Amino acid sequence: MPAFRAPRGTRDLLPEDRAVFDRLASTGTALAVRYGYRPIETPMFEQSAVFERGIGSVTDVVEKELFRIAPRSEEAEAWALRPEPTAGIVRAYVQHGMQTWPQPVKLTFTGPMFRYDRPQAGRYRQFWQFDVEAIGDPGPAVDAEIIELGLRFYGEVGVRDVQVLVNSIGDPACRPAYIDALRDFYRGHLDVLPPTERDRLERNALRLLDSKDPAMVELNASAPRITDRLCEACAAHFASVQVHLTALGVPFRIEPGLVRGLDYYTRTAFEFYVAGREGQQQALGGGGRYDGLVELLGGKPTPGIGFGLGLDRVALVLAEQGTEPPAAEGPLAVIVGADPEDTVTRLKVATDLRAARLRVRADLGRRKLGRQLEAAGRDGAHFAVILGDELAQGQVQVRDLLAGTQRTVGIDDLARELARAEASHHHG
Ligand code: HAM
Repeated sequence: MPAFRAPRGTRDLLPEDRAVFDRLASTGTALAVRYGYRPIETPMFEQSAVFERGIGSVTDVVEKELFRIAPRSEEAEAWALRPEPTAGIVRAYVQHGMQTWPQPVKLTFTGPMFRYDRPQAGRYRQFWQFDVEAIGDPGPAVDAEIIELGLRFYGEVGVRDVQVLVNSIGDPACRPAYIDALRDFYRGHLDVLPPTERDRLERNALRLLDSKDPAMVELNASAPRITDRLCEACAAHFASVQVHLTALGVPFRIEPGLVRGLDYYTRTAFEFYVAGREGQQQALGGGGRYDGLVELLGGKPTPGIGFGLGLDRVALVLAEQGTEPPAAEGPLAVIVGADPEDTVTRLKVATDLRAARLRVRADLGRRKLGRQLEAAGRDGAHFAVILGDELAQGQVQVRDLLAGTQRTVGIDDLARELARAEASHHHG
């Protein structure tokens, strides 16, 4: 056992893993940009109150999972690592007066989030989300646009069999009456409620619907359904979201028990699952509308909607589904030399080629030419540039390791020749 290990619930992304995350992140950002979103970045920590007020204090995320930063003195502000990006992005929207920008303001962010969750496969204490937020549009069309964007992301990165679950969780006009009905229902089953749920019943009954406790899952199957109690405006909004989804060809299933784990949601709520993995209760991603959040964080009443897709889970599913990650690209050329001791010349030639924006490696080990060439082959290099005696006449040998051919090139033409080979390789 090594003396030091990455903290429990965190992982090192080794270069191969990191390459997968890079691809997921860049695919997500490019996709969001195509849909009119602009990248933003907020701090990894915020005043705890941003999360307590935004996400809600009676939620797992805030009550159990927030990584709080110990204040450095009595009067210091209390901070916490971000468990999700929406509250911070909305805080930034208010702080920077984005309500005066053309609406909606469409923002995207991809980065690490922190939750003190019980670690298991697909559940980590530091994990990545690809997030989009459209702030200032009451919907319902944008709701469907965002759900379709999420589904397209999975398609573009190669996840198969993604299911879309949607629901409406009402608004301040109809939810209170529903919550009363829900509370009455649970009061009739007090004996079945685990301690946390019993404790939350009076403070935040909706959270009981989201409980992962097996006893609750069974009980919740017969709980009153929000979809039966939506007010006229919410019902019309939900119906229109469905019309838009259908027009876009997005297959979806209405799931009346879907309430999401954060308190800021109103109306549209949705989650993405991989078929056959529902048993693990692990959503691949989720999101929804949060028409009260901007006001809750001190801004003017402004509607909003967004999603967060968990990239760790996407990487896991891609591996499970046997989707081959693209092979790591070797260098265009490795600079090798007949004189093992002459690292100066090898490094100088490589440096000039790198300055010309070429991807090259210099062999800086002091080993025989044959060994240097073997290593270049193992690297997956396309060319070996061999420095020998003819360098005195300004010439080097360029060996095409893939074709098995070799020719003499003037050192002054080397960068141009290699660049041309790279271009024709990539376009041919
Ligand atoms: P969330 O459902 O809490 O929503 O998280 C979104 C996604 O992040 C989850 O579906 C899951 O894929 C991933 N995730 C969450 N916790 C973990 C974990 N411990 N380990 C690995 N992956 C995890 C939100 O965070 C909202 N901010 C989404 C949103 C944006 N709603 C509106 N705008």
